Amino acid sequence: MTTMERPLFSVKGLTKYFDGIRAVDSFSFDVTEGSITGIIGPNGAGKTTVFNIVTGIYRPTCGEVLFRGENISGQRPDRIVRKGIARTFQNIRLFNRRSCLDNVITPLFQRERCGFLGSLLGTPGARKMERDLYERAFGLLKDLGLEKFASMQANTLPYGLQRKLEIARALATDPALLLLDEPAAGMNPEETRSLANLIAEVREKFKVTILLIEHHMDLVMNICSPIVVMNFGTLLARGTPDEVRENPDVVAAYLGNRKERK
Ligand SMILES: Nc1ncnc2c1ncn2[C@@H]1O[C@H](COP(=O)(O)OP(=O)(O)OP(=O)(O)O)[C@@H](O)[C@H]1O
Ligand SMILES: [Mg+2]
Repeated sequence: MTTMERPLFSVKGLTKYFDGIRAVDSFSFDVTEGSITGIIGPNGAGKTTVFNIVTGIYRPTCGEVLFRGENISGQRPDRIVRKGIARTFQNIRLFNRRSCLDNVITPLFQRERCGFLGSLLGTPGARKMERDLYERAFGLLKDLGLEKFASMQANTLPYGLQRKLEIARALATDPALLLLDEPAAGMNPEETRSLANLIAEVREKFKVTILLIEHHMDLVMNICSPIVVMNFGTLLARGTPDEVRENPDVVAAYLGNRKERK
């Protein structure tokens, strides 16, 4: 297989047991560079566990996580971020009492660790770097439509905006692959539509490949292709939105008996 054909990211035979529960079970799929790939499936199907393994929170029981052809499974979360994988969380994880700008600037500072001593010493170079970082952080807030909230404490924002702030924070690490875990959770249909447009814009502007978990089918069907369907930790189906929508196994396991979550 040539580099051109190689997927940006894949998992192979990924398996995770928790005390006898098979959360993820011999799960394999590929993500093509530049795609917005969706992961759907019933509650407890193992979707978030896949993200937790990919980002180094859990070690897999067995299987591989390949990023640009390298097996990164079992590496530490900070190394995985530096390799170019960033994520948002199903249960939002922000620095709650810090401003929105601080939440985005922290990962930018971490990337430029070398400037830390200079910044303590207040050298002109360090001051310039600090100004640049603030500008970049503000730019990211602007890209996500959050600039007017820059100085507000993160936990005072409505949940929908906190989810956008998490995307801004993830983008600050300059990822090649962005993992979004239920970015539209808690959003109404109009907010969900506008988030779908925003995610598509983010993909273009930041040249980032996106893998997203969602229960809002309107968002998934509009912007994701392919869509990967998980059930009981395994791969139930993979295909275009139309293929997945018409797949009888997917309808039986998930689409047929679910209510749209808000
Ligand atoms: N740390 C853990 N310890 C024990 N069991 C866990 C742990 N994390 C996940 N599980 C179990 O693994 C299974 C898969 O959970 P996971 O959170 O990955 O599902 P999900 O597809 O993201 O569901 P949802 O759509 O509700 O977010 C569930 O049975 C869950 O209870
Ligand atoms: Mg989940």
